[in-house]
Amino acid sequence: MLAHLRNISKLALPRRLVTQSASYSSSSSFLIDQPEYSFLKELGLERDNPGVYSGQWQGRGPSVTSYDPGTGRPIAKVRQGNVQELEQTIGLAMEAYKQWRQVPAPVRGEIVRQIGDELRKYKEPLGKLVSLEVGKIYSEGQGEVQEFIDICDYAVGLSRIYSGQLINSERADHSILEAWRPLGVVGVISAYNFPNAVFGWNAAIALTTGNSVLWKGAPSTPLVSVATTKIVAEVLRRNNLPPVVTLCQGGTDVGQTLVADKRVNLVSFTGSCQTGRDVGVEVQRRFGKVILELGGNNALIIDESANVKMALDAALFGCIGTSGQRCTTTRRIIVHEKLHDQFVKVLVGKYKQLIPKIGHQLEAQTLVGPVHTQQNVENYKVAIAEAKSLGGTVAFGGNVIQRDGFYVEPTVITGLPHDASVVHRETFAPIVYILKAKNVDQAIEWNNEVEQGLSSAIFTENIGQAFKWIGAKGSDCGIVNINTTTNGAEIGGAFGGEKATGGGRESGSDAWKQYCKRATITVNHSGELACAQGVVFNVE
Ligand code: UN1
Repeated sequence: MLAHLRNISKLALPRRLVTQSASYSSSSSFLIDQPEYSFLKELGLERDNPGVYSGQWQGRGPSVTSYDPGTGRPIAKVRQGNVQELEQTIGLAMEAYKQWRQVPAPVRGEIVRQIGDELRKYKEPLGKLVSLEVGKIYSEGQGEVQEFIDICDYAVGLSRIYSGQLINSERADHSILEAWRPLGVVGVISAYNFPNAVFGWNAAIALTTGNSVLWKGAPSTPLVSVATTKIVAEVLRRNNLPPVVTLCQGGTDVGQTLVADKRVNLVSFTGSCQTGRDVGVEVQRRFGKVILELGGNNALIIDESANVKMALDAALFGCIGTSGQRCTTTRRIIVHEKLHDQFVKVLVGKYKQLIPKIGHQLEAQTLVGPVHTQQNVENYKVAIAEAKSLGGTVAFGGNVIQRDGFYVEPTVITGLPHDASVVHRETFAPIVYILKAKNVDQAIEWNNEVEQGLSSAIFTENIGQAFKWIGAKGSDCGIVNINTTTNGAEIGGAFGGEKATGGGRESGSDAWKQYCKRATITVNHSGELACAQGVVFNVE
């Protein structure tokens, strides 16, 4: 592993950093002090990092240590913010907004373009940090930063084309205009599993539409938050801009204060359904706006006519990619009864081939990295035990892997009723439940019977079934795919889901509208006052 890391870091490191890292003692217990991890220094990280940025770096709250889930070893520390620092940061974000909203949208787009370019420069080390801190494999860490770069490109174009409309008025010589204005301060609370891209989706669009952004990343991925903010802050500095992007890492108290503060006009929250419900209620209480990106319980339906080879590949990435820790991970496979047994057999064969590919997230051959924390391991154990107690069969896996770090076997469970409690619950681990259905109608019914409504996919070659799936009687999810995976959405579409997933949409399509307030403007250019609906109201 270390040899591999060394090779990657050598490629990525400028000379001055190689020299700098060589002066650190390799016997230190923090990974950041080891020469193999000098890419962390390239990102401007240190052993002890301030976790609050509002034009300056600070952090007077509790210090947290970030761990490598692949070994359990500490990487570096971050000093979080306290409630008082958060409140000050909100004030500065508001001030920054007042200047930013006056900058023409295409000029704001130009700043976002520079952020994308700066990310391109740091894609390799930043992607590696994402891998190291989350536990996702090397290519997925790189892919996550790419997703941020992609949304920057999208936002640059958006800055020149997002627009309102001109609506016909019923009154002579009147026009109705619709304009989209920034909201103010957009608070982004992101989760550990996508610590970079989800901030990126929100920030690129919110900045382009004229808002300032206040970010609180997950407490267990603080280094990604700090490193990403440093990259953005450099672009702001270069352009003499106020802190239109701010960061306040913190615990529950900081999160709750952010959610409750009236000055934060929109809260974009990614996390569990349970916490998301509280966030939604709290923001609504003060009539703020909210975008909720909560849990999923995503099904892959295999119709009788499916291209099974392709469906098997989709199942493999869908269920095991990111070690089952995407909100779009395939958690249920609903297979036509005629294909069920053979499908399970071949899928289990593929799972077996992955065993030698379980390993540290930064090793070149790894396809299955660790889960993020011991808590994920515990949740995995509880789900497996419950599945067994309910009569499920473990067709593959089911065990915690005994080695340093947090590793579990990718697991396939068959024979459970479609509505078993464990099947209806989202467990953030690589466990899939395979269900046997009579036909597509029944499969759609089961797809829709869970509380969450994020992602879904069908494999079918039957055009009638495909159109049923995307129609009103079809999937009730926000993402309704055909012949591809439930996970791995591109930035061009709107991302998000229905029901307990929270209803929010981020990223592409017209998701930008959520970061704006809409003004309906009636202009009378007739020279006389006339009321709508023919109402007469005047005195001579
Ligand atoms: C998440 O898991 O929180 O569609 C986001 C996907 C990724 C984003 C996942 N583009 O799987």
